[in-house]
Amino acid sequence: MENEIKAIDYPFTVGEPPEGKEVVLSVRNLAISFRTDRGRGRAVRGVSFDLYKGETLCIVGESGSGKSVTNKTIMGILPKNAHIDSGSILYQGEDLTKIAEDEFHRIRGTKIGMIFQDPLSSLNPIMKIGKQITEVMIINGDHCRHLYEDSINEQLIKYKNDLRLLDIAKDEVKFLKRSKAPKDKIEAAKAHLAEERARLQPILAEDRAALRKAKGEARVKVKEFKSEIKARHKELRAPILKRLLTFKNLSQDYADFISERRRYVSELRVTRKEAKRRALAIMKEVGIPQPERRYNQYPFEFSGGMRQRIVIAIALTADPDVLICDEPTTALDVTIQAQILELINRLKEARHMSIIFITHDLGVVANMADRVAVMYAGKIVEYGTAEDVFYDPRHPYTWALLSSIPDVDSKEKLEAIPGTPPSLLFPPKGDGFAPRSKYAMAVDFKAEPPMYQITPTHYAATWLLDKRAPKAEPPKIVTTRIANNLAKAKEAEKHE
Ligand SMILES: Nc1ncnc2c1ncn2[C@@H]1O[C@H](COP(=O)(O)OP(=O)(O)O)[C@@H](O)[C@H]1O
Ligand SMILES: [Mg+2]
Repeated sequence: MENEIKAIDYPFTVGEPPEGKEVVLSVRNLAISFRTDRGRGRAVRGVSFDLYKGETLCIVGESGSGKSVTNKTIMGILPKNAHIDSGSILYQGEDLTKIAEDEFHRIRGTKIGMIFQDPLSSLNPIMKIGKQITEVMIINGDHCRHLYEDSINEQLIKYKNDLRLLDIAKDEVKFLKRSKAPKDKIEAAKAHLAEERARLQPILAEDRAALRKAKGEARVKVKEFKSEIKARHKELRAPILKRLLTFKNLSQDYADFISERRRYVSELRVTRKEAKRRALAIMKEVGIPQPERRYNQYPFEFSGGMRQRIVIAIALTADPDVLICDEPTTALDVTIQAQILELINRLKEARHMSIIFITHDLGVVANMADRVAVMYAGKIVEYGTAEDVFYDPRHPYTWALLSSIPDVDSKEKLEAIPGTPPSLLFPPKGDGFAPRSKYAMAVDFKAEPPMYQITPTHYAATWLLDKRAPKAEPPKIVTTRIANNLAKAKEAEKHE
């Protein structure tokens, strides 16, 4: 069996999804760096993973390993000093890394939603909860605006992307100047900028013309859309108006007139009333008691757990396909944490969502994950089903994480992971975990390990899987736990 383990050539790309699994989101060879005063920090260094439809993929690793940066890239909310060095993020046939920032609103918060660790930071402290939930729906509920945006989208994306190429060249010059780089480097960057400018000038002119044309066509489309609705409702209104003007059944006819008017407006956009009705339903769905009363309260009147439920409610208003949860329970105490995790699991089932769940706590992962990606120093070092990672872990870093989960049953002492992660300003040459690992071999300090495929679902990047490596067993605390867990699982199966 061991002989079948094969190394995968760089760059690591994950294999085909298993039979019956559909890929929703596909991250390939993603690398992100940050410009800082002390140089470039390589925060994400070649990350690849797939998210399957209806699953929860947990991304786990110590703080600073690049989990949030990876997911901020998916959401298009990277800070200004971040740069996408390579890679792609495919979602519904579009590469999200190629979409300019303002195009993201279409996907961000509609198809892909995100909730963060600290619910307070995503809520407005001086706005009533109800308004915060309905506001998103109303903003997202202008059907004319959607029609217009959808119609010009393709041209707009192309224009912005071409424009971005120019900005990248400009930024490079600015960055080199600011960081007082050698003159020749600055000159080279300037020359590159001039080249780009010349190359892009005619392209951008074409883009602008195409965009103008698309905007014109979109305006016509919106006009037609509106007048079609207008005409239809005029017809519906005519008999009511006629009756109304006879003054025979005034209050009833007037009520009919008003409600028909409302129907007309709601075809153009989501109305406040409709938004409120939906907000109350979603508040109920996420387990907020007495939603009618809560609707008119401010964030400070809610407990931490309830606030996180509100943030989840806001994310749900757009009915997302993918929900990214970035340490959503880290700030909460244990019982509340368990309730929120349960809620996320329940919502996933009920709404058929796919979830990326980010955490530094492998203990949380056990109750959530279908699959797990273990991240260390900007890389995925182990990737597999929850069973692969919990019952057959292969990377010494995964072993270390497993040893540091508190075990309620045995009350044994935790093994804190010694040392600290490497500085990403000077990325490690070999296996980034080597300096902290008892299992490190000479090669670990010299060369980066390739990704090894252990089974069709299970991958790990450690030289221990090379056939020349001496056989290494996980630490005793891990093997004991695996044995215990297996026994428990068997026991549970018997009782079923
Ligand atoms: N705005 C920023 N500027 C510079 N470096 C950053 C910035 N944001 C994140 N980083 C760096 O990127 C690395 C990964 O961060 P992050 O993805 O937030 O880690 P985590 O796994 O804890 O979510 C860290 O080393 C962090 O210092
Ligand atoms: Mg984070």
